[in-house]
Amino acid sequence: MSTIDYSDKIPNNVNLSEDRTLQRALEQWQPNYLKWWDDMGPDGSQNFDVYLRTAISVDPQGWAQFGHVKMPDYRWGIFLNPAEADRKIHFGDHKGEAAWQDIPGEYRANLRRIIVTQGDTEPASVEQQRHLGLTCPSQYDLRNLFQVNVEEGRHLWAMVYLLHKYFGKDGREEGEALLERNSGNADNPRILEAFNEETPDWLSFFMFTYFTDRDGKFQLCALAESSFDPLARTTKFMLTEEAHHMFVGESGVSRVINRTCQVMNELKTDDPAKLRAAGVIDLPTIQRYLNFHFSVTIDLFGADESSNAATFYSTGLKGRYEEGKRTDDHQLRGQFYKVLNVQNGQLIEKEVPMLNALNEVLRDDYIKDSIGGVERWNKVIEKAGIPFRLTVPHKAFHRNIGLLKGVKVAPDGRVISESEWAANRDNWLPSEGDRAFVASLMGRVVDPGKFANWIAPPVMGINRQPVDFEYVRFA
Ligand SMILES: [Fe+2]
Ligand SMILES: [Fe+2]
Repeated sequence: MSTIDYSDKIPNNVNLSEDRTLQRALEQWQPNYLKWWDDMGPDGSQNFDVYLRTAISVDPQGWAQFGHVKMPDYRWGIFLNPAEADRKIHFGDHKGEAAWQDIPGEYRANLRRIIVTQGDTEPASVEQQRHLGLTCPSQYDLRNLFQVNVEEGRHLWAMVYLLHKYFGKDGREEGEALLERNSGNADNPRILEAFNEETPDWLSFFMFTYFTDRDGKFQLCALAESSFDPLARTTKFMLTEEAHHMFVGESGVSRVINRTCQVMNELKTDDPAKLRAAGVIDLPTIQRYLNFHFSVTIDLFGADESSNAATFYSTGLKGRYEEGKRTDDHQLRGQFYKVLNVQNGQLIEKEVPMLNALNEVLRDDYIKDSIGGVERWNKVIEKAGIPFRLTVPHKAFHRNIGLLKGVKVAPDGRVISESEWAANRDNWLPSEGDRAFVASLMGRVVDPGKFANWIAPPVMGINRQPVDFEYVRFA
């Protein structure tokens, strides 16, 4: 069951050939997907041979195989983690009942919405990142970008499989619509706001893969708890791919910081102007990028109070992060949780029924997790002997959803006036000047083992290959 059949047109470990109707429907979607990849996937890359990993089995040990492939020939397919025998629902109103192998009619609409919303983010990020290959800082980084892109494409496959298999005609229509919406398109945008933002430069890319792919991790972890077993199994496998995306982000930012610190020590300066003249990204600019990506990403968890979140949990569609490791009753009725609110110009904590606060619970778990990497970035700065610390801004900073939407908050959590915000905005978020400067550094470096001036080489290569390995062969 866990071995993947690559002799099929669509590689899979779900015995696709035994379900002719489904197989035909997916084989009809496949050329549309490839056309989308051609139109909206990595710009000008169709003929490159890229050193990519491809899943050969969903076992934790040997799932990846590395080799040079042209991206349009990547074997996108359908891979589910093995079924757990007699899996039981372990939270919500159905706790203790058998997990569902099919969708109960009354939950169809909500599950469809959850799957479509998740599915929509996957091709969106490929679209957001499609021009980055033209300005890659090295072959190693170019390869990592493409790896992330093909795997986000595969995540779309994962969601489209569920739509086709379990939602009939509606599902097939949703599958088409996932290829029709486009990131940033004024008429037909992607569903969530952060996925309509541009990823214009590589610092943004690394921040995105660190912060926003981590949102993906938390959403997938919550869905991996689902009572709908096929959704749980497919998201579990997606999570193994997601780990690499966050590695790309964390190590990418770390290498940018490392290089900046080197130059700070060489020139014995912390003056942003001098550092910029030397072609590296000053630490305050890195902080502003961090503030932007962190705040935009935590909006993705949704409104602080949400009756949908309560419904999704109680009906067993979506659990909490690490639901199985928690020791409460897994039903949460009569329990409370603190969310932030604004009263008389002050942030206050307000207790609300925990079921309604589950977006906030997931957001808080995310925040804890994302602080870890920021502390590791600080270690790099510390090791260089530089007295500067990156910090994660206050949860209420620069928020655009829920109770905090209408209020201006400084990174330290002070509620401030519109005029104070306006006067400081460019100290806290990337200014046009910052973005233009970072953009000015972006030039294409593709000689094996060479790196752009603004980023340090990685400590080691991919799959134990040397750093100067030929990760991408250009046609
Ligand atoms: Fe993904
Ligand atoms: Fe990802």
